[in-house]
Amino acid sequence: MKAVAITPGEKGSAKLVEIDKPKISDINDGNGVLVEVLKAGACGTDREINNAEYGTAPEGEDFLILGHENFGRVVEVGENVRDLEKGDHVVATVRRPCGDSIYDTIGQQDFTTDSEYYERGISRIHGYWAEFYTENADFLIKVPKKIADVAVLLEPISIIKKGLKQAEDIQRRLDIWHPKTAAVLGTGNVGLLTVMALRLRGFEVHGFGLQEPEGYLHAELCQAIGATYDATRELSVTDSVKKYGEYDLVFEATGYSPIVFDAMQTLKENGILILSSVTGGKRTTDGVPSDLINQEFVLGNRVMVGTVNANREHFEMGVKSIAHAEAMYPGWLSRMMTHKVEGLENFEKVFDILENGGEYGAIKTYFEVKKS
Ligand code: BGC
Repeated sequence: MKAVAITPGEKGSAKLVEIDKPKISDINDGNGVLVEVLKAGACGTDREINNAEYGTAPEGEDFLILGHENFGRVVEVGENVRDLEKGDHVVATVRRPCGDSIYDTIGQQDFTTDSEYYERGISRIHGYWAEFYTENADFLIKVPKKIADVAVLLEPISIIKKGLKQAEDIQRRLDIWHPKTAAVLGTGNVGLLTVMALRLRGFEVHGFGLQEPEGYLHAELCQAIGATYDATRELSVTDSVKKYGEYDLVFEATGYSPIVFDAMQTLKENGILILSSVTGGKRTTDGVPSDLINQEFVLGNRVMVGTVNANREHFEMGVKSIAHAEAMYPGWLSRMMTHKVEGLENFEKVFDILENGGEYGAIKTYFEVKKS
């Protein structure tokens, strides 16, 4: 079968490889499921791995099959699989509990304390940019047929659900927390899905991006569901509080770390800032008003939390969010799926769009590996 693989540490090494089709017997407790990949999403992480910023091959191998955003159809199940059958649509989670951390042993591998983590398509396990994969049924989320067309967005949505769940859990420190306003920094794929998730919860949402709003689909998508959109060149995140007031919740999804220090200055008392960007560079930031930020955090009981990856429960919450969004904002999620690339062999096109997303006006780029 075909797959797209990279050689870790070698810039621009992505290539099409021909490998053996996996078998359910590869998963040895009868819990194996063979899945045919229908769609596979692409994001900045895939671009950064192909740029050799990170990415690790499985032990004993010199290549890594890319891809962590996925959607597929079950073709075969092992004898102990109870709740999945041939023909079901599924999305697989990304991180696996292969480490020694206590969190791996209790099924919370998204909170692992090991520095080496195991993620399909990213770190030490092959990913989903392939025609087929096998997986233990425990890591597969069944997807209703009605949301199948947009279910490739479930993995990025799961990331947001985990971030928002962490915020809720942390805010239980307050006996009463009725958040009303939120800012979402970055209106790429994760940013827009966060705008959606927060609008579904009734937040007043303010999205911020780099480009001017006129004729910009990202801005239109914010406005279509009742959020505002501002270009940070026109209205900086720090100045935005003069217009919109301070925020109860800020979600950072730009990939640009200096903006974090601006975001820290926009929180209301008791407010929470959620950081979700993986910034692999070496940037440092001068001119940070550290006394002011520190003082406001202390005197206002403000919180900042990082969030990575997602667990099964966050994917399940994501399924509900997709169904909710389809009911409240029909067609909105499909509008986000701007760039379809047919066939894994066209992986160079995918990287071209990922590298030059702005020019293409791309939000979500994905492979249609097989027509459903
Ligand atoms: C993926 C996560 C992963 C993170 C760090 C993100 O792009 O969506 O599943 O945990 O990268 O590797």
